[in-house]
Parts: sequence; C-alpha cells; structure tokens
Amino acid sequence: MKPYEKLLSHNKNWAKEKVEKDPNYFSRLVDIQTPDFLYIGCSDSRVPSNEITGTEPGELFVHRNVANLVVHNDLNMLSVLQYAVEVLKVKHVIVCGHYGCGGIRAAMTKQDFGIINKWLRNIKDVYHIHKAEFENIHSEEEKVNKLVELNIQEQVMNLAKTSIIQKAWKTDNRPDLHGWVYDLHDGIIKPLLEIPAKTKLDDLYEFDNL
Ligand code: CO
Repeated sequence: MKPYEKLLSHNKNWAKEKVEKDPNYFSRLVDIQTPDFLYIGCSDSRVPSNEITGTEPGELFVHRNVANLVVHNDLNMLSVLQYAVEVLKVKHVIVCGHYGCGGIRAAMTKQDFGIINKWLRNIKDVYHIHKAEFENIHSEEEKVNKLVELNIQEQVMNLAKTSIIQKAWKTDNRPDLHGWVYDLHDGIIKPLLEIPAKTKLDDLYEFDNL
C-alpha cells in the first residue's frame, strides 16, 4: 500500500465507525453547519484543531496558516472571517498558536527563506514592537516562546481592528475574541487573553457608519 492510500483506507474505517456509533452522524451535517467557533491556527501538523479541542465535524470553522497570522490584506483570511462572522454568526473567534512554532523561530533569524520572507515580516514587526520585553531573556527557546505569545496577542488585536469584527460588535454584540497557546510537550492549551465583544479600542480603529 502506498503511503497516501493508507489515508484513504483510514478514511473508510473512520466513516464506518462513525455510522456504526450513530447512524445519523453524516446526514445531520449534510445541509447545514452551525459552528459557534472560528479557529485560526498554525498549519503545523502537530496541532490538529479538531483533535486538540475535542470537537466534531460541524463544531469548528477553521483557518490555518504559517504562525496563525491575521494580516489585514490577506483575502483568504478575510473571506473566512467575514463568512464565519456574518453568515455563520460565530460567537467566538480563537487565535491558537503554539510554543516551538517553526514560523516564529524562522522569523527570529536573518536567514533568507524566499517568498515566505514576506509572510514572516509580519512576525518580525511583532518582535520590533515588543523589543524591550526580550532584553532579559537569554535562552533562544524562551525568546521564541515569548514571541509566540506576543504574536498571538497581536493577531487577536488585528482581528479586533477589522471592520468585520467592529461591525459585528456594533450590531450584534459578538463575537468574543480569544488568544490561546498550545504546548506540544503536554497537549495542553493555555488561554492567554480575551477581548470581549464591544471592547473599546483606540478611536482610530473604530469606523463610522458601519
Ligand atoms: Co507553528
């Protein structure tokens, strides 16, 4: 069996097991999805969004990219966000990063990685904003993990600044925004920050006439 054929064979077993336990498992989800959560996470294969949150198909709307970034001109992320907030009407948006993130680690070096330099630039900017907080950290690993946490914090702030979130806060009093960090060593997610709906931001970020 070729390696990719194993995936298809596992898929057949998975589908069979689900139906054996619950005959309506798939038919319930065919026509409608009503997830309460949008999860924005890292593409890292060791941080599978559904498994680590114990969620089933239909419960989590997911967007993943390198280092869980919320970049204001990323049409992909913005489309996912708009659909989740305005159509699915999610109640919570979660940015979940993870310690030991390769994207964060790469952004802390001066190495040229080609096209991904442009993506990692966003993380270098987070470092630059918070440079003073790194002064007393001497271990490389601790520096990476500090930037992992600060990056999550900044990405949650980036969410709050979007017109999509601002509009939903104004008209619907949702969603709440959450920053979480996952630890590869023990599988535990630690909540880092929460920005409840309608939190006041700097005036500049609040749009008129939304
Ligand atoms: Co990562």
